[in-house]
Amino acid sequence: MGKVLVVTSGKGGVGKTTSSAALGAALAQGGAKVVVVDFDVGLRNLDLVMGAERRVVYDLVNVIKGEAKLTQALIRDKRLENLYLLPASQTRDKDNLTEEGVETVITALKKAFDWVICDSPAGIERGATLAMRHADVAIVVTNPEVSSVRDSDRIIGLLDSKTLKAEAGAEMEKHLLLTRYDPARADRGDMLKVDDVLEILSIPLLGIIPESMDVLRASNLGAPVTLADGQSAPAKAYFDAARRLNGETVSVSVPGEKRGFFGKLFGRKAA
Ligand SMILES: Nc1ncnc2c1ncn2[C@@H]1O[C@H](COP(=O)(O)OP(=O)(O)OP(=O)(O)O)[C@@H](O)[C@H]1O
Ligand SMILES: [Mg+2]
Repeated sequence: MGKVLVVTSGKGGVGKTTSSAALGAALAQGGAKVVVVDFDVGLRNLDLVMGAERRVVYDLVNVIKGEAKLTQALIRDKRLENLYLLPASQTRDKDNLTEEGVETVITALKKAFDWVICDSPAGIERGATLAMRHADVAIVVTNPEVSSVRDSDRIIGLLDSKTLKAEAGAEMEKHLLLTRYDPARADRGDMLKVDDVLEILSIPLLGIIPESMDVLRASNLGAPVTLADGQSAPAKAYFDAARRLNGETVSVSVPGEKRGFFGKLFGRKAA
């Protein structure tokens, strides 16, 4: 049985889709069979970031409504044979995502893949709660700014109350991914410090992704940054985060600083 991972945040535009694509690709580059599922019905972004927008024929809603088989909707990545995408529809109503439909799709995907990565829409409404519903593991994507941290705190509350795991009385495994971290702005005091974010949210740190033009370049090329430029700083940070998800202990370096967080802040191994 594969693991279901939700990439969530509350606040919009913090880097969920970028991170879903990059971590999905990084895990697949490490040999796992991975599917990334776009839950952002109506916006549909993941296929663009993964360079598959012209190959979308059927989507998640088609599968849920019985208009297409799961195998017809899954798109295999052009570069990695063990990386797949289940796109969202651009045109349809969000109400087409039903709880039973999502459950059927996720159950089927878990049987066929090592990782099922759910790219959540922004907000704390139904779309976000459906995306996290079946998760075994959650990544909370946060930018080092007050509004993002506040929304992440709300999302952590939902992860601990509205998921199947929480309802069963089990603890949701949660990881913090700090993205768009800009050392120059941190130095000037324009952004929250890593320690401040960790203190407020108090969940283990999965990684710090620097603010970088490489992310934009990769997105313009239609490739996850780990595939577009594996040597770039954001790609390296995503590769390290993927290793931590696999239970490896890898120190987290703060962009622009020599010190690293080791053990203390990422002490727990992935279950
Ligand atoms: N590390 C980074 N450096 C520079 N730009 C970034 C970085 N991460 C994300 N971005 C940019 O920020 C924007 C928002 O990213 P993304 O679409 O991944 O966020 P999101 O959380 O999925 O947004 P939404 O809530 O709308 O789904 C994009 O233009 C993306 O290229
Ligand atoms: Mg998104």
